[in-house]
Amino acid sequence: MTTNRVLTGITTSGTPHLGNYVGAIRPALAASRAPDTESFYFLADYHSLIKVAEPARIQRSTLEIAASWLACGLDPDTVWFYRQSDIPEIPELTWLLTCVAGKGLLNRAHAYKAAVDKNREAGEDDDAGINAGLFMYPVLMAADILLFNANKVPVGRDQVQHIEMARDFAQRFNHLYGEPAGKEYFTLPEAAIEEHVATLPGLDGRKMSKSYDNVIPLFAPRSQLKKLVYGIVTDSKAPGEPKSAEGSNVFQLYQAFASDAESAAFRQAFADGIAWGEAKEQLFERIDVEVAPLREKYEALIAHPDRIEQQLRDGALRLRAKYATPSLQVLREAVGLRDLGTQVEGKSKQLKAASSRPTFKQYREVDGKFYFKLVDGDRELLQGTGHDSPRDAGQLIARLKADAGAKVQQLHDKAIHLGDELVGHLCEDVAAAEVVAALASFGEDVA
Ligand code: TRP
Repeated sequence: MTTNRVLTGITTSGTPHLGNYVGAIRPALAASRAPDTESFYFLADYHSLIKVAEPARIQRSTLEIAASWLACGLDPDTVWFYRQSDIPEIPELTWLLTCVAGKGLLNRAHAYKAAVDKNREAGEDDDAGINAGLFMYPVLMAADILLFNANKVPVGRDQVQHIEMARDFAQRFNHLYGEPAGKEYFTLPEAAIEEHVATLPGLDGRKMSKSYDNVIPLFAPRSQLKKLVYGIVTDSKAPGEPKSAEGSNVFQLYQAFASDAESAAFRQAFADGIAWGEAKEQLFERIDVEVAPLREKYEALIAHPDRIEQQLRDGALRLRAKYATPSLQVLREAVGLRDLGTQVEGKSKQLKAASSRPTFKQYREVDGKFYFKLVDGDRELLQGTGHDSPRDAGQLIARLKADAGAKVQQLHDKAIHLGDELVGHLCEDVAAAEVVAALASFGEDVA
């Protein structure tokens, strides 16, 4: 039986709201109860430093998020619950991964690119005001995931690229340092996208999000919750007029908390012309029925920050002893950060390294065209496109060898491009990172 390792990180930069509860907390805790699942929940406080330079806010948010998850039913005795900054092996691994991460790949990360695009639009220097933390964000996140060999990472769509990058770094590390017997240092993680979890609308109908300032805090006191729910924007249909449940944020919020039968009855009430005031009253009560008991626990928990502190430290200590510290030992060994007293490796490894230099192989197919393959030992990495003459193929190969490691990109599926030009396809089970690494090694020959 294989155990799933599911890992979730929460950036400690805000106060949990109903959207976080419905979209992340509730489904994640439900998933942790599945059989054969080892769950990891952590407070990504290093990540929060990239965006927030307010120490008090980081501290407050860390406490609020920890207390929220505990109040919602997270049980630190059955799942791993810890704070990123309590695990020094995470930044240590970040550096090891930094040294295999393609800079070109990081250039293409959505969040970093968006910041660059914004600068360009404003006529600023590309990197104006951008800290290197934003640039390195995906590497730190990869370390979070790879350190514990998590195979499932539940995330929103905006985070999928980060998981792909983590896979890329993992493959590249495995490839560079993997033992001949095929021992792999890292498990390749997969993004688990929660398709059926609806994004919750906020007060103004747009997605509930701190950046839109339209949130309902998860543990707002009952009176404030009521006020906020009554402030939800609706159309101006009068009492008695039939209302459409479809597209109504009051209805969508209700649905996120109600059973199917309750939702069906609410939909009928809309068709029958329920007044908005009455609909909001029902929505408020429905939310409060679910949230009130959790709110009570939350208030009890947050009154004792020292206890939460202790729980987090304890989680980190056990987790380090069980996984993080031994894993880092193996990884340090793998890259050569070794005890000098132990036997220095003989020639065989070096010979292997020399013999498995990547090379291009050219050949002609029955269609009369000239093809090439990029191979590393007996491993085929890239199947090149067909060309009319051997010279055309040769010129493309020369261009690929000339620093193309930094320039090729995987556009879709397995297609590898150099600028606008399709140059070939990844061979089976090959990551783009391996091709990039192989191409980069031609550059090293010259140097
Ligand atoms: N980047 C994630 C977010 O913004 C938070 C995060 C940090 C994370 N490290 C992680 C999520 C590792 C999953 C796994 O939501």
